[in-house]
Amino acid sequence: MDNSSHSIKIIQKGMHIGAQVEGIDLSKNIDQSTFKIIEDAFVEHEVLFFRNQQITSDHQIKFAENFGELSIHPFSPNSEKIPELIIFDNNEDNPPFGTDCWHSDETFRDTPPMATMLHGLIIPEIGGDTVFTSMTASYEGLSDKMKHFISGLECIHDFKPFRALFGNDEKSKIELRYFEDLYPPVSHPVVSKHPISGKPVLFVNPQFSVRIKGMAESESRTLLNQLFEQAKIPEFQFRHQWAVDTVVIWDNRSVQHYAVHDYFPARRKLNRVTIKGEKVLPFSETNDLRLIKDNKSPLPDQSKVSHGGHIPKRPLARNPVKS
Ligand code: SIN
Repeated sequence: MDNSSHSIKIIQKGMHIGAQVEGIDLSKNIDQSTFKIIEDAFVEHEVLFFRNQQITSDHQIKFAENFGELSIHPFSPNSEKIPELIIFDNNEDNPPFGTDCWHSDETFRDTPPMATMLHGLIIPEIGGDTVFTSMTASYEGLSDKMKHFISGLECIHDFKPFRALFGNDEKSKIELRYFEDLYPPVSHPVVSKHPISGKPVLFVNPQFSVRIKGMAESESRTLLNQLFEQAKIPEFQFRHQWAVDTVVIWDNRSVQHYAVHDYFPARRKLNRVTIKGEKVLPFSETNDLRLIKDNKSPLPDQSKVSHGGHIPKRPLARNPVKS
């Protein structure tokens, strides 16, 4: 198959997130006009998947480089030869670590990756899906009062789950201090502005977001828990079922994901690369909302009570009509 803008097809799979790309061979060169179709679909659908891609890690890296320069994860199981390549090879002797938690990748960095790409190499017979949630839809689904309340807030992000990788001995403590100097806690806006679509995004995640600036600890915890709950609403999600040679790329600026560890102790092997991102921009409610034409909620407005056509069919036994 030769890649061309005529053969490529984008098939929407989720109402708010997720699309399949057909008619493209990722082992071959992709011209600019074809790549532009992929890039636009990536921003619109936030998660793209490509089935039956018999590619090597070099092909994966080459395809990813169309989106930008690759980044290196400081704590992941990187390939010795190519540090940009992460190899998740999990099995009975090497349980998966830290990905069964809602998160956007590496938001403990000042400039988190803009995208992450996975290639499925060994897929368990049952289980091992990845669930994605749109943080654009999650934001849209908040009430106007909550949108107003969180506007302008900032949150501290920290590499906290990876602290468990360091032991208690002196050498490990020195090593941990080295990483703390390299990756001190960073502050990102709670509502970010997607750099391409300009849309508002709820930019907090339970793995790395630790405290809302300027709030008491208990207030911050309550608010963060409430915002974390928002991303768990199934209407905003897309559940991806893996097959060997499926490639998935997601927009890390507007997506959280959760790797379902139900397949353990079976084997699951994926190659992962990430693409460098930029500083997270704040969304300003007053200036930016005017730019967004279609800011309607992805959920029915609960304040307009019509009960979806439900009506009581018979009198309630507890309120017998007295004659
Ligand atoms: C990740 O969190 O990057 C891994 C996702 C997966 O293993 O499905």
